[in-house]
Amino acid sequence: MKPSEPTGKWSTISCPAKLNLFLEVGSRRGDGYHELTTVMAPIRLADRLSLRSRSDGQIHLEVRCGTGMSCAGLPTESENLVYRILEHFRLATGCRAGADVILEKQVPLQAGLGGASSDAAAALKLAKRVWGVECSGEKLSSLAAELGSDIPFFLADGWAVCRGRGELVTKLSRGLAGGVVLVQPPVGFSTAEIYRLHVPSSEICSAAALIGAVEAGNWGQTARLLFNRLESAARRVSPWVERISQEFERSPAVGHQMTGSGSCYFGMFPNVPVARRSARRLKAALPECRVIVSDLLPAVPF
Ligand code: C5P
Repeated sequence: MKPSEPTGKWSTISCPAKLNLFLEVGSRRGDGYHELTTVMAPIRLADRLSLRSRSDGQIHLEVRCGTGMSCAGLPTESENLVYRILEHFRLATGCRAGADVILEKQVPLQAGLGGASSDAAAALKLAKRVWGVECSGEKLSSLAAELGSDIPFFLADGWAVCRGRGELVTKLSRGLAGGVVLVQPPVGFSTAEIYRLHVPSSEICSAAALIGAVEAGNWGQTARLLFNRLESAARRVSPWVERISQEFERSPAVGHQMTGSGSCYFGMFPNVPVARRSARRLKAALPECRVIVSDLLPAVPF
């Protein structure tokens, strides 16, 4: 056998995190998932994924933890969603190529920011291109959904309303740009646990008003309409949600809430300088937390 050699050139893309501006959760379905409606927006905070093809069919994944990040508990090699989705993609398409992958983490883990799903979507986009595999967008999205409810959103590259268990993605006609501040408490939340503690409400909240505000380009109105049904379950898991929420209440944030199933919390500010000043105050008030200034991306550059 010939010694294995990497064959391709490196390709790199950014894997943006997301924020849930709206998240309504219905009851538990027969398959264990919950029916939901969510409006998600990509943000500038991102991991980076680089991939090159290998001629020997092996997949090697190297994970590099960014400065200021805690990567404790981050799955490595074949346990990582990036590795698993590449294997899944090869099985589904019959492709036999291999890859070297470098994943540089910046997005907090167990935070409701979709970091792992975004990394997996980026791996699929690059593998399809680098391996030259024919695969329709629809097929890519449906095989992605088999490994995670949020991955199809990240394949869509922009603002979207997602339904079903999160995998049915409808893109919005536009997105918004503006300053946000994220606060990550020193504890992560398990998505499965937060969903387990969710108590369905008899009143279902509609996303229509928030979608209207986004499509009208109205930042203030969008911020005032933020909604996350999972926040009450998260408040029962950890006192951090209430504590962070109180600090945002004292800040000039136009709106604030937890993202996804947490534990990260965010606020939307009138402009970036105000967001920066507020981030400094939030850090001083919550020294145990990681505070990150970022912005909503109106669209994702590929
Ligand atoms: O699909 P994903 O792997 O992101 O989901 C993680 C866990 O979150 C699921 O195993 C399930 O417990 C919960 N979940 C849910 N309903 C959804 C999405 C996720 O109950 N719509």
